[in-house]
Amino acid sequence: MSKGLTLALLSASLWLQGGNHSLVWASEVAVSAAAGTVPKQQALTSLQFAGVSDANRANINYMLNCQGCHGQFGSESLDGAVPALKDYVGNFLHVPGGREFLVQVPGSANAAISDAALAELLNWILQTQSRAQLPAVFRPFTTAEVQKLRQNPEADVVGTRAALVLAIEQAAP
Ligand code: HEC
Repeated sequence: MSKGLTLALLSASLWLQGGNHSLVWASEVAVSAAAGTVPKQQALTSLQFAGVSDANRANINYMLNCQGCHGQFGSESLDGAVPALKDYVGNFLHVPGGREFLVQVPGSANAAISDAALAELLNWILQTQSRAQLPAVFRPFTTAEVQKLRQNPEADVVGTRAALVLAIEQAAP
């Protein structure tokens, strides 16, 4: 059995056991437990994400509202039409306008979930899929911030995204 499949099955079984922890958490825990770095129980109880009051809910909201396009782990779609969130989306927090874009992009702004749930979901995505790209001081989205930004959905998604990606590339060391 491949390592990926083993992890997937382990994640699924942890999930089915009804733990309070997301699939992503479960697989991270499985990895660190296998490596012997963090006692599993400690990992299960100490993993917390800023601005996320219920990671299980965030994961379910991701599955129901985002996963259809962004995939289970936020990878780029095979045809390249959906960009990777994984190992990338945190970069937007480094450039002017990027933070706003993460809320105003159609997938976020139009999601049929509350402002509080969207703030939590974005904070969860950023910390589970793109932790390494986060700024040294990560300021989580708040409900009030999301509520305000959502009233102005992005009008020129393609153009704004291209400009932001260029700024990210130019800011890269
Ligand atoms: C119908 C497909 C689709 C769904 C559903 C979707 N997205 Fe997206 N998402 C995209 C595409 C395509 C882009 C690239 C920008 C654009 O063209 O909208 C994107 C871009 C993003 C970005 C900006 C990152 C970047 O590199 O552009 C974020 C953040 C994001 N989506 C979050 C979400 C969240 C959160 C959800 C669920 C609530 C979601 N998306 C649902 C297709 C989708």
